[in-house]
Amino acid sequence: MSAAEIKQTVKERYDKFAATGGGKAPCCPTTKKQPGSPYAVATGLYMQQELSLVPKVAMDLSRGCGNPSGFAQLEPGEVVVDLGCGGGIDVILAAHKVGVDGKVVGIDFAPQMIERSKQAVTEAGLQDRNIEFHVADIEKLQLPDSFSDAVISNCVINLCPNKDAVYQEALRILRPGRRLAISDIVLTESIDPDLQHRFRATWAGCLGGAIPENDYLETVKDAGFTELHIVARHILAPEELAGMSICPGKAFTPAAAEADLAKVQGKVVSIKFTARKPPLN
Ligand SMILES: C[S@@+](CC[C@H](N)C(=O)[O-])C[C@H]1O[C@@H](n2cnc3c(N)ncnc32)[C@H](O)[C@@H]1O
Repeated sequence: MSAAEIKQTVKERYDKFAATGGGKAPCCPTTKKQPGSPYAVATGLYMQQELSLVPKVAMDLSRGCGNPSGFAQLEPGEVVVDLGCGGGIDVILAAHKVGVDGKVVGIDFAPQMIERSKQAVTEAGLQDRNIEFHVADIEKLQLPDSFSDAVISNCVINLCPNKDAVYQEALRILRPGRRLAISDIVLTESIDPDLQHRFRATWAGCLGGAIPENDYLETVKDAGFTELHIVARHILAPEELAGMSICPGKAFTPAAAEADLAKVQGKVVSIKFTARKPPLN
């Protein structure tokens, strides 16, 4: 598929998914609840207290692989941009963190997702906050230079054919000295080209566009980011890999062959990291 065909496929997939309203069975879970852990069973990603702030419409459409607003160290009054906001879960959590003086902008190229995000914000009682949504491609943002204090993204950039463009745009819209907080899916190493071709032929879930971790992090650094810090990394277990390979759900994304999935078992990683745009000298 060409880059344009990939984006059209992904957009249609998530538009259809949003139109259904989604449902349980998040497809990019991380760990199950550990004894004594504050993390919720439902997703393994968010704290129970955070989930209490999120309406059902956003929970049902949540397809993230981390909790970027949880490790972005957001402060009251800051401006945050969420790249690929989906049903709005991280926009809502970020809005609570930046408060009444802050601003959150959610961006997604699937118009139905943006409609659901707006609904979620209203249902969360945040309609009077400074929250905007834009239907746009995150490879070409319609935002001014030095616009935001933080850029967050949750399980989106793996889907983008041009990851360089996404990180260059993220750098451009950040103020000097401000930061990224990203959750995404990468590979531990390069995989067999024929296998990769099969995953790419359908842009399988969050696997078709996944690239080796080293290459991914080089992309971030090449864009101009510094102080790259890995917050967490988790190799997907078999059931996690199976779910993630058909994200956002089996009704929308063709399943990869079981034998192909077995070949990448142990090689697909959920990473969370932060990085900084260099300050002005
Ligand atoms: C796996 S979902 C994650 C959604 C959300 N971040 C979450 O945690 O629930 C990926 C989202 O990214 C959006 N997306 C993918 N590629 C995009 C692009 N190039 N520009 C804008 N949105 C994109 C999809 O429409 C979808 O809503």
